[in-house]
Amino acid sequence: MAAPGGTGPIGPFPPRVEGDEAQEEYDRLRRRLLWTLPYGLYVVGSRAGERRNLMTLNWATQVSFEPKLIGIGVEKTALTHQLVADGGSFTLNTIARDDRAIVRKFTKPVEHDPEAGTLNGFTFHDGPTGTPVLDQAVAWLACEVRTPVDCGGHTFFVGEVVDCGFARPEDTEVLRMEDTRMSYGG
Ligand SMILES: Cc1cc2nc3c(=O)[nH]c(=O)nc-3n(C[C@H](O)[C@H](O)[C@H](O)COP(=O)(O)O)c2cc1C
Repeated sequence: MAAPGGTGPIGPFPPRVEGDEAQEEYDRLRRRLLWTLPYGLYVVGSRAGERRNLMTLNWATQVSFEPKLIGIGVEKTALTHQLVADGGSFTLNTIARDDRAIVRKFTKPVEHDPEAGTLNGFTFHDGPTGTPVLDQAVAWLACEVRTPVDCGGHTFFVGEVVDCGFARPEDTEVLRMEDTRMSYGG
């Protein structure tokens, strides 16, 4: 995983911010502000060939009504990046608030046990596009990549929702970033 908030003070700096010290202070303030942005917290399924992965991700949002587009920001160094780029699809799984411990299990490439049908010990099934859906998810969106947007250290994969479903009652409360003590961004 990349260094939180990037490495060193990152420009641009407003004209009032002059000198190394002021730039470092501004960099820290901007990071604290970015950390206050509210986010959901999800598990993203990806697959290319027989390689499958599940990854914790908070940079996800709907970006269009018509067509139904969802965007996810994925680090270029992540296995998920390779699998989404090669496989051309991803699933976005929502998680029950009670299951918050799950997100810690998907912060590096998973162990696949084909006999048990598990990824890091969690049962899954292949969704409509072949990418994994976590059995424990509250709901899932299956998306086909339409536009990969190069954003520097990350790619924002814009995908169209081609199928979706609830796996638990629709009123199950879903996990948000604020339910954990973790942060990603800044
Ligand atoms: C709370 C939390 C949120 C995260 N959000 C993102 C995210 O939005 N995008 C991303 O690329 N990585 C995110 N990560 C990092 C990934 O989960 C993961 O550590 C890394 O990208 C490697 O994933 P891989 O298994 O695909 O190699 C987050 C990690 C944590 C703990």
